Amino acid sequence: MEMIQLNQINLTYPSSEQPILNDLSIQISKGEWVSLVGPSGSGKTSLLKILSGTVEPTQGDIVINQTNINEMPLKKRHDFLRKQVATVYQQFRLLPQFSVLENVMLPLVPYTKQKKQLEQRALALITEVGLDHRVHHFPEQLSGGEQQRVAIARALLSDPPILLCDEPTGNLDSKNRDVILELLSKIHSTGKTILLATHDEVVAQKGDTIHTFHDGVVHTGAPST
Ligand SMILES: Nc1ncnc2c1ncn2[C@@H]1O[C@H](COP(=O)(O)OP(=O)(O)O)[C@@H](O)[C@H]1O
Ligand SMILES: [Mg+2]
Repeated sequence: MEMIQLNQINLTYPSSEQPILNDLSIQISKGEWVSLVGPSGSGKTSLLKILSGTVEPTQGDIVINQTNINEMPLKKRHDFLRKQVATVYQQFRLLPQFSVLENVMLPLVPYTKQKKQLEQRALALITEVGLDHRVHHFPEQLSGGEQQRVAIARALLSDPPILLCDEPTGNLDSKNRDVILELLSKIHSTGKTILLATHDEVVAQKGDTIHTFHDGVVHTGAPST
């Protein structure tokens, strides 16, 4: 089953004439792990932003989970994407004034009245990423690898079928990179679809498919192992 269909996506930012994405068409199956590689500035982050609804393509259709999101009014589209997609960033993006538990709960706090249930779910996810001994710590008290695990737990809170990862190991040493990769493998095995942008060849090789971005065009291949 197709989880994501991009049909002839074009993206030109208003401030530049050069198209960033040029007639990009890719299909991604449910449960596929897709690596996005290519030089800096080749449009990987832009594509992930299109899928999370933070950037609108200049042209093209986006079908997620059988739903054409172009046809939706803006608010409905954002509500839909909030349930389908979550993003993990290179810079972790935890809120420094909140504890690990609070950071993981935050995305659903505005949408739920059952605080206790939300807390239980957040605690279960924190345990799943191996940080049950860090629940009441604050981000600055954690290593980079631990912060990224918190960010992954936060991304999983709404149980989205699609996980977007933008250079998730870009700020980590190779030991912590491997811990994150193992965690992502575990998450992948639960049936999640993963799109992961990376500069790291070791990380890229974890994908079932590798899309290479270059001059607005994307080439598709399989990992070399
Ligand atoms: N909001 C924006 N406005 C104008 N240009 C942008 C914007 N965001 C990114 N770009 C440009 O789009 C190109 C692709 O950027 P990006 O998607 O971040 O690439 P990558 O993630 O592959 O490094 C770059 O040339 C970048 O400068
Ligand atoms: Mg980028």
